[in-house]
Amino acid sequence: MCGIVGYVGPRDCSDVLVSALTKLEYRGYDSAGIAVFENGKIEVAKSKGRLTDLVAKMEKEGKPSGHAGIGHTRWATHGEPSDVNSHPHSGRRVTIVHNGIIENYKQIKKFLIDNDRTEFLSDTDTEIVAQLLDYYYDGNPVRCIRKVLHEIRGSFALGIVFADRPETVYAVRCESPLIVGQGMGEAFIASDVPAIIKYTKDYYLLEYGEIAVLKNGSASFCNLHGRMIEKELKTADFDEDSAEKGGFEHFMIKEIHEQPTAVKTTITPRIEDGMPNLSECGITPETLKSFKNIFIVACGTAMHAGMVGKYVIEKLARVSVTVDIASEFRYRDPLLNEDDLVIIISQSGETADSKAVLNLAKEKGAKTLAVVNVKGSSIARESDMVIYTHAGPEIAVASTKAYMVQLSVMYLLAFEMAYAKGRIDEKECRRLTAELVKTPEIIERAISLEYNCQYISTKLITADSLLYIGRGLDYALSMEGSLKLKEVSYIHSESYAAGELKHGTISLITEGMPVIAVATQTSLLEKTVSNIKEVKARGAMTIVICDEAAEFDNDAADYTIRIPKISEVLMPMIATVPMQLLAYYTSVNKGNDVDKPRNLAKSVTVE
Ligand code: F6R
Repeated sequence: MCGIVGYVGPRDCSDVLVSALTKLEYRGYDSAGIAVFENGKIEVAKSKGRLTDLVAKMEKEGKPSGHAGIGHTRWATHGEPSDVNSHPHSGRRVTIVHNGIIENYKQIKKFLIDNDRTEFLSDTDTEIVAQLLDYYYDGNPVRCIRKVLHEIRGSFALGIVFADRPETVYAVRCESPLIVGQGMGEAFIASDVPAIIKYTKDYYLLEYGEIAVLKNGSASFCNLHGRMIEKELKTADFDEDSAEKGGFEHFMIKEIHEQPTAVKTTITPRIEDGMPNLSECGITPETLKSFKNIFIVACGTAMHAGMVGKYVIEKLARVSVTVDIASEFRYRDPLLNEDDLVIIISQSGETADSKAVLNLAKEKGAKTLAVVNVKGSSIARESDMVIYTHAGPEIAVASTKAYMVQLSVMYLLAFEMAYAKGRIDEKECRRLTAELVKTPEIIERAISLEYNCQYISTKLITADSLLYIGRGLDYALSMEGSLKLKEVSYIHSESYAAGELKHGTISLITEGMPVIAVATQTSLLEKTVSNIKEVKARGAMTIVICDEAAEFDNDAADYTIRIPKISEVLMPMIATVPMQLLAYYTSVNKGNDVDKPRNLAKSVTVE
């Protein structure tokens, strides 16, 4: 939520800030702004709307010209999107950009008012921090930042400039992610590495409470106590191309096409001699045998990957798995103890509710395992064990390739756990692993159904509402299909267990209402087909996603998407593809902003 950037160096600062913010727009895109030192004075430009609106405004009114500054792209938390609520926000001598939330901003505002500070322009919590910094500023920026850090509560990262410290940018991280990029004679701050990858692959990861000072093209660091610290310089393992559209119209479709490679890169290092081997992630067969209960906790799409994980782990390893939504789990006083494993799945590794669950699990003494895409993210660093998914940067707000690799990790875990527990023998484990190895190629074949999905999506664009149905693994999968479709097409959609329809929901079916049935599990096919016929008899337009060999009455489906076959248990990895393509093309056909759906942001770092 919200992206922040900063720059100090020889380039045109406004251009660098805008270019870096373009890569962070996935974090929020309801307003944007920059502050740049121009001839020793802080000049601010900001605007409601997309970054392009800010650029247009600067083209008309002039852009600040200089070599040091900060920038912001916003997902509103306090105060509606407006010019005035856009960042940067200023006190008299201090200007800041902020990602995250300040929980005690009301108390601080009262403190400021009680001390004759009443000049508030916006409704934001950020402005309160700018004013508080200004209140305490005595000419020593780091001391002032440290003082303020002791008074504000919440999860946040800040980029700060002080009017009397030209050409210098200060940054601090408390929870919300922040990196400091180091180029040749130039330094950057950013909420995420892809923002600056065009300029440098080298970066420092700020830890909780650390302050960075960017000056004369390089960065120095100190901790919360003001002590200077040395930090390890890291190098990003991806390049600019991974963060660009590479000839595709949108990131979402590019990322759908990247899935075969992402799966291959994720599973290959975890398979040795034909068997799953997660030891590089600190997971041994003994560890996997030792848990009584498994909890998979996550949000949104990542939680849906957990749903598939539950079906597969329970089926193969015969261990009880509870899947829960992180924002629910954290407040329901869950029964957790030392014998339990809590698996947190997260693309960003920064999701506030998922992080809270991780802390709760640790408090209760449970072992924690993170399945995370972003290297060095909080959830990855703070878990006992971590399996990185190697999807590369996922830029589209709607997750596709990250979900796919999360599924692949669920399978690796299930296979290794089932074998470790003696629930499957070596031959079966090898067979399943060999099937998993085949998935990249079969996903590729499923992607070649793109034009079929594009055509069928034209049948969805006029719908107000639709249903996704399935049984067993297909039901788990249909949850993701439904979420994907609704978030990018804005068509109301629900996923329903096919057998549950008759208990109420079937009353929603009217003439022409689309019902998408996922029917990849042969043993359940007949039953799902009966449910499809029931809705069709009541006027529904039915679309069936099934394997290429599935046999059922032709008149059950108005449209059929036949996908290549693989072992039944692995079918979710293949059936996911047409669901993503249906969502993508429905959104494109409706003229929506596919990569940045309304009201959303990637990386949800507030509760
Ligand atoms: C939907 C989507 C979200 C995320 C959810 C969790 O396409 O991307 O539902 O899955 O916000 O985010 P992470 O995985 O970063 O914890």
